[in-house]
Amino acid sequence: MDKKIILTDSEIPRQWYNLAADLPTPLQPPLGPDGKPVSPDMLAPVFPMNLIEQEVSQQRWIDIPEEVLELLYRWRPSPLHRAVHLEKALGTPARIYFKNESISPAGSHKPNTAVVQAWYNKQFGIKKLTTETGAGQWGSALAFACALIGLECKVFMVRISFEQKPMRKTMMQTWGATCIPSPSPETKAGRDVLDAHPDTPGSLGIAISEAVEAAVSDSTGETRYSLGSVLNHVMLHQTIIGLEAKKQLEKAGEKKVDVVIGCAGGGSNFAGLSFPFASDKINGADIEIIPVEPASCPTMTKGPFMYDHGDIAKMTPLLPMHSLGHSFIPAPIHAGGLRYHGMAPLVSAGIVEGLFTPMALQQIECYKAAMLFARTEGIIVAPETSHAIAATIRKAEQAKQEGKERVIIFNLSGHGLMDLYGYDLFLQHRLADHELHQDEVDAALAELKDLPKPSLAKTGKW
Ligand SMILES: Cc1ncc(COP(=O)(O)O)c(C=O)c1O
Repeated sequence: MDKKIILTDSEIPRQWYNLAADLPTPLQPPLGPDGKPVSPDMLAPVFPMNLIEQEVSQQRWIDIPEEVLELLYRWRPSPLHRAVHLEKALGTPARIYFKNESISPAGSHKPNTAVVQAWYNKQFGIKKLTTETGAGQWGSALAFACALIGLECKVFMVRISFEQKPMRKTMMQTWGATCIPSPSPETKAGRDVLDAHPDTPGSLGIAISEAVEAAVSDSTGETRYSLGSVLNHVMLHQTIIGLEAKKQLEKAGEKKVDVVIGCAGGGSNFAGLSFPFASDKINGADIEIIPVEPASCPTMTKGPFMYDHGDIAKMTPLLPMHSLGHSFIPAPIHAGGLRYHGMAPLVSAGIVEGLFTPMALQQIECYKAAMLFARTEGIIVAPETSHAIAATIRKAEQAKQEGKERVIIFNLSGHGLMDLYGYDLFLQHRLADHELHQDEVDAALAELKDLPKPSLAKTGKW
């Protein structure tokens, strides 16, 4: 039995998979401030038109340009591992696989879309990209991509992560990018937050406002904004993960997958692994597909499906998504990349439809899972990824109790070698659990009650 299933460069998928084409209930459009659907032209100051075309595309398969494949070959295809040592430690009859996205140069799945977005921006004549970053993984990924492609890059990093993970800034600088803590005095959005809450830990919602403002206020027109998650085109680029994984599971001799798991902040690594399997589920396969979030930021399990802005200053259109409200500032847990108030519209639509069944977990269970994983499989994972591992362990234990041989696959979205501060606090027993309660969510959302409401229609098949 192979413990590691490898694809050669020539076996890399040559098309991305677009779930929007197959959703049983069509995706609802983003809305502008007037409550009317946003046209592609309205997004043009923020994104290049070639990416906007992907954002609104209903085409099932989209070709990956040859030059983009050349960029991806630097670390793709990524290996699929069988977690035999974890299985043994758990004494489970389940066969556990993980897709190892931590082997990219920046250490996570994020470069899968960063190099693509940088390439399309360059094709469109753009010279500089701005972005936000939570844990620092996305900022590093875009810095890396811009270095390969020859673009300037500026990253607004959520302040709490900037302080917890100072070496992420060094990575970004090494790749030639600028990285500043958010909220910053450089933008109006940042100054407004600093005036009202000088000690704020920051949030992805604030950092997005700053990065969008920095892009659209460049009068040369040569700057655009780049988002590392949430949007349809980002989910699309990440599907290379699941498309590779399906080929690899077939090589491993697996005829059927029972459970697919990914942690979910904005939804991109979860989508990347799971959407190709969701396509099988839509066509009749029996698969449990689980996005996992922190109990302190329970967007999918406690946030309603609503129209909401992606950022605090309401610079983004209203997106149909699960949300805790655009001004929600999550507790400073260590999984910085999961501290986002919203969820990708495509993932949210899948939840409404019943294709995905979300789970919320506390951080201590997740760190315990990460410790077991480090001491069995050897990889020290990102705190975000630990949520996927904790859910995998729950499912493997359930298989043991039921005496069932299940096939479970999870996405190892990133390594945690830049996140050791959180591990250190865990080892010193200085981490606490934190759960956001439904009444707190309802109270925070009361002020958003006048926003337009999306339809909750679903087929009822799942
Ligand atoms: C390692 C890792 N996993 C997961 C996430 C969550 O993002 P997404 O839900 O878009 O995959 C992040 C975000 O920063 C991350 O760095």
